[in-house]
Amino acid sequence: MYKIIRFFLFKLAAETAHHLTLHWLQFLIKLPFVKSIFKLLYAVENKKLERKIFGLTFKNPVGLAAGLDKNAECIDAFAALGFGFVEIGTVTPLAQPGNDKPRLFRIIQDEAIINRMGFNNEGMSLVKENILKSAISNQQSAIIIGGNIGKNKITPNENATDDYVKCFHELYDVVDYFVVNVSSPNTPNLRALQEKEPLKQLLFTLQEINQQKIKPKPILLKIAPDLSKEQLDDIVEIVFETKLAGLVATNTTISRDNLSAEKSKIDSIGAGGLSGKPLTKKSTEIIQYIAQKSENKIPIIAVGGIMTAQDAIDKLNAGASLVQLYTGFIYEGPDLIKAINQQILAKN
Ligand code: FNR
Repeated sequence: MYKIIRFFLFKLAAETAHHLTLHWLQFLIKLPFVKSIFKLLYAVENKKLERKIFGLTFKNPVGLAAGLDKNAECIDAFAALGFGFVEIGTVTPLAQPGNDKPRLFRIIQDEAIINRMGFNNEGMSLVKENILKSAISNQQSAIIIGGNIGKNKITPNENATDDYVKCFHELYDVVDYFVVNVSSPNTPNLRALQEKEPLKQLLFTLQEINQQKIKPKPILLKIAPDLSKEQLDDIVEIVFETKLAGLVATNTTISRDNLSAEKSKIDSIGAGGLSGKPLTKKSTEIIQYIAQKSENKIPIIAVGGIMTAQDAIDKLNAGASLVQLYTGFIYEGPDLIKAINQQILAKN
């Protein structure tokens, strides 16, 4: 069925299709029986899918990656479609419009997307309100919510920590885990925060605040797939030093490798992060490297080019504990969530 919906959605500009889908999901999920129909069609309920990672219980290991429901508007719908967890954001302290449009491009022949959205979001207060609204209707499904946090474009890197701290405080009561995003290629200089010293300073500060809470929340770091081995070694060291709960690997890549589309077409799209099939192998290699380097001691949420159930299994075999979808969900729809969960069960 999704293939028919996709046929029409792909006739629209990518960002229009995105907003339309979210609006429709928001509307549909409030209609009687729709939640039950979604669940019947897509959700795989089985105790064997349950995963206990960094102190949280995920009802299945397939999550929605950050960036798709930035403002937490459709959590209930995504829960009904069978996701075991949803990562909202990236959220910044202040609402911001993001980069100029067009900024989202499909490369259909490569099952890929290039985006330079630039953390467009409604800001942390409104996002909190949205989560609270959904949490009420969400109690029975008890889905895990991750809060992916970032900094505003106007905040200079010297003050970046303040932005992350603000988001941490604001969302603390409404999310189950946090992801510190320093790996988006679409906010100028953001990725410089992945360097050893600024990263340590940021993570130590957040953990200090976190540890003062009665019930500290798991804090994870989301990394780029473009890091060198030396940088990955530093990251592993920092995760242990700052006692992070784990890593989300990976964000989009700035590379344009593994594309079959004409170079002139890709060049005409311009800057942005590439996701989807061209990223599959690279992101799995990063996961494998981190798992080996850390002797499997760092929980990893795998994301990057999961387009088939087998891609998800490969990520789990490489050392990941959970997986997330973005581009695969755009191309394959909720059937992919079901297929992954079913394949995991078949391997049990
Ligand atoms: C993203 N991604 C992303 N990641 C993040 O941490 N914060 C964000 O705001 C966004 N926004 C965003 C927008 C769009 C349009 C895309 C395609 C992606 C990255 C995403 O969560 C994921 O890490 C990558 O896309 C790689 O996974 P896939 O898409 O290959 O499954």
